[in-house]
Amino acid sequence: MRSTQPVTNVISLFNQAGGTGKTTLAMNLGYSLAQRGQRVLLVDMDPQSSLTVFMGLQPHELEDTIAQSILDRAPLPILHDIHQMDLVPSNLTLSAADVRLATAISKETRLKKALAPVEPNYDFVLIDCPPTLGVLSILSLVASTHILIPMQTQYKSFVGLDLLLGTINELQQEGVASDLKFAGVIPNLHDRTAQGKEILQAVTEQFSGVASVFPPIPRAVAFADASMQHLPLGLYDPKHPALAVLTAVTQSLESL
Ligand SMILES: Nc1ncnc2c1ncn2[C@@H]1O[C@H](COP(=O)(O)OP(=O)(O)O)[C@@H](O)[C@H]1O
Ligand SMILES: [Mg+2]
Repeated sequence: MRSTQPVTNVISLFNQAGGTGKTTLAMNLGYSLAQRGQRVLLVDMDPQSSLTVFMGLQPHELEDTIAQSILDRAPLPILHDIHQMDLVPSNLTLSAADVRLATAISKETRLKKALAPVEPNYDFVLIDCPPTLGVLSILSLVASTHILIPMQTQYKSFVGLDLLLGTINELQQEGVASDLKFAGVIPNLHDRTAQGKEILQAVTEQFSGVASVFPPIPRAVAFADASMQHLPLGLYDPKHPALAVLTAVTQSLESL
């Protein structure tokens, strides 16, 4: 148990399923927080580097990435002030982590230790996890104070939900992430159909007593268009109706 509240909220956007909006929401919630005056660091922990790309960088051209910090304990390479946020980028080098860290001592704390010296500079650190339950996700969760779960409101999203909750539970029980708390579940890519409603209801029931479920973020092609332009939605289309939902989530993160 911590005796004092941590100053910096370190939030992993996590779901072992791909395509649920982890990367999109890391960038957009980060921007929303930054607009409200919060100091935000985004950390790309996915070797696929979607967040790095969404933020306008070419991963293969980068010499210094999160990979060196995780694998060789180099200081975090931080790129400053991209859409009012800082970014630790990744590239495919990070995909060696599973093999390179297989027999490493105290690997679980590699990201936590890398973040520690810079954490006081930020109000929020948002970690974009890969769509796996492998070592990179474990490192991310161990470094985090909170977990935020983007989920599609589709039937297939239930497949793996037990696995996801089981993994978190195990980390909490094992003591490696005993302070890890839920920041909530974000139903994303929501369709206002009968099925969408039904699944939303079921998700809310599944998480009742475990985590709060935010109002759903609608499926809106503008999210994908904005990412392709390397922009958060708030800059791409400042009047888009989905921004209201992002603001609601942001406010709730501010009161964690
Ligand atoms: N609310 C949304 N509406 C429409 N498209 C979305 C939405 N959220 C994410 N997307 C798109 O869905 C795809 C997967 O999103 P992404 O954030 O990369 O998911 P993940 O990181 O979980 O794999 C991307 O092409 C993204 O632009
Ligand atoms: Mg992603």
